[in-house]
Amino acid sequence: MKWPDHICFGGDYSPEQWDEATFEEDMRLFKLAHVNLLTLPVFAWAKLEPEEGVYDFAWLDRFIDRIWQNGIQVCLATSTCSQPAWLSRRYPEVLPVDIEGRKRTHGMRAFFCVNSPKYRERAAALAHEFGKRYAHHPALAFWHVSNEYGTKCYCETCQKKFRRWLEKRYGSIEELNARWNTAFWGRTVYDFDEIMLPTACNDDYRFQPAIELDYQRFVTDTTRECFLNEAEVLRSYNPEIPVFTNISGFIKNLDQFAMTQVQDAAAWDNYPAPGEAPHIAALKHDVMRGLKGGRSFILAEQSPNQQNWQPYNKLKRPGEVRRLTYQALAHGADTALFFQMRQSAAGQEKFHGALISHAGHENTRVFREMAQLGGELERLGGCFLGSRVGARTALLMDWENWWALENSSGPSRDMDYLDMLARYYEALWSGNVAVDVVNPREDTDYSRYSLVVAPMLYMTRPGVAETLCGYVRQGGTLVTTTMSGLVDENDRCVFGEYPGKLREMLGIWVEETDALRPEEHNGMRMLKGGLPEGAYACDFLCDLIHLRGAEAAAEYTDDFYKGMPVVTRNTYGQGTAWYIGTRPSGKFLFDFFSMLGSSLGIGCEVCADPGVEVTFREGEGKTLFLINHNGEEASAAIPEKGYVDLLSGKAVEGKCTIGPGEVLVLGKTKR
Ligand code: GLA
Ligand code: ZN
Repeated sequence: MKWPDHICFGGDYSPEQWDEATFEEDMRLFKLAHVNLLTLPVFAWAKLEPEEGVYDFAWLDRFIDRIWQNGIQVCLATSTCSQPAWLSRRYPEVLPVDIEGRKRTHGMRAFFCVNSPKYRERAAALAHEFGKRYAHHPALAFWHVSNEYGTKCYCETCQKKFRRWLEKRYGSIEELNARWNTAFWGRTVYDFDEIMLPTACNDDYRFQPAIELDYQRFVTDTTRECFLNEAEVLRSYNPEIPVFTNISGFIKNLDQFAMTQVQDAAAWDNYPAPGEAPHIAALKHDVMRGLKGGRSFILAEQSPNQQNWQPYNKLKRPGEVRRLTYQALAHGADTALFFQMRQSAAGQEKFHGALISHAGHENTRVFREMAQLGGELERLGGCFLGSRVGARTALLMDWENWWALENSSGPSRDMDYLDMLARYYEALWSGNVAVDVVNPREDTDYSRYSLVVAPMLYMTRPGVAETLCGYVRQGGTLVTTTMSGLVDENDRCVFGEYPGKLREMLGIWVEETDALRPEEHNGMRMLKGGLPEGAYACDFLCDLIHLRGAEAAAEYTDDFYKGMPVVTRNTYGQGTAWYIGTRPSGKFLFDFFSMLGSSLGIGCEVCADPGVEVTFREGEGKTLFLINHNGEEASAAIPEKGYVDLLSGKAVEGKCTIGPGEVLVLGKTKR
């Protein structure tokens, strides 16, 4: 597989929207900005195939050749995200039906049914045209299939296909009835053809968590097929070119661990909301790196400036794009791609930021900042590409768990899996503990981790709990929380005391769970476990825990369960299993992980001021990224000798300072 040997810098460009003179001017500007890759044509199906089976690629041939003559590579997009009007008109089956049962009409992009045979036929035919023409073009770096998949469709085709999908999964209707526990509310089905998609018409998406869960799996499975429908065509022309589709941030609709299994790289679009705390983007990057087991990923899009679709589209502050870009690289990105290179003349995104704004020239703040960044990335070359982040802490994340947890009615309407993950992540991140995001499966190997953190691991699929118990028995440390170990892969509750298969390892049992209103809270008084004395606040959910071998590390301070354990610690085999039966304050999590971090030796070797993000990427050499998120100067102590500032070439040793909002990238060759 060909992987670029330099940081790809550039992004989405739509030559189909511009005349030749503008295009030539853009080539000049791209050179000034050090752009070395263009993603195109993401939405040009209508121009490429103006009539069924009639193709016009001559214009694209010309553009790609000119781009390459200018020394710029291309990430070729198959353009299948917005089908041409003739396709929707001649074959209405390609149009999706929404959850309310409304048949959508032609218009919006991503308005197609991933299961439509006609859509798939025409998309594959288009991919063949791309493959034939460009698979061996010297400019080609990546294939980009469609754009930000994620549509849920409820059409007749999907309905029928879902029934066959269930038949294959469960074998018999009796098995399905048992797995879905249809005896509840008299929902027994006698034939697969009686199964309806969970729509707003039957409210099954709210009242039948088991059917909704399987539908969500089905959407992922069939979207994956839809991706492969094109990807396999492209691969048949040249297996050396990486194929991906770009993930829209943290999209819940698709299990990205499953999606990226069939992609050559994970690729994602980073659009932080203005003012969003920096650990959120860090977590998302770590998720993306985790999707392919720690391999570097593609940062497929971010905005060079404001967006247009936030309620208030604040400008990116001076230095912000640079900081965000280095943060992505620090967490495992090998590219720095942007949406978009030139601001469109009209349409929904006319006010979305771009490298080249409507002003049309290089004399803008954004252009200058981007050009400076492009120059820096060029200087960095490929020194850390393909390298790994050597984390010894794993944070478990699972899409099926996310769906099941939030489909569930009760105990609280405020169930928010990502928010909980982000709280745990923030505590680790602010101590600069490197984290790998890991998908818990039966065969997950946790042996390289000193610490595994599993917030709200509600669903334990077959083998998952056993593997975690094995990890602890052999000396690992696990931290898990309220809402863990409660259901199986069909959302059926465990019998014989919560938290099910995790109970023995944790040395506790949970009798009840109290849900607090948003304005309510309880307190946690520390007992043992090395935590500072005193109390911390907690809220959201409070488990009523009984000890069965574990010791209480903290107890509740209020309510009728005052004095009952809230945090427990159990020695299990050679290892330790912690249980946090509530949602503790950020302060508690920070102190808790500082304590664990020092006892497990997983802390960061660089001691830095608060607000300085420190990460390493390790390959043939070692690269150290220091990102100062503060509005004032900060410092860090580099314990190891031999580092060089990769941008200035100067040696760096001992204490170094980082300007407000600035970044340091240090490199060292390994001995
Ligand atoms: C998404 C899409 C792009 C563009 C940007 C705008 O990420 O993939 O085509 O619409 O949003 O922010
Ligand atoms: Zn459909």
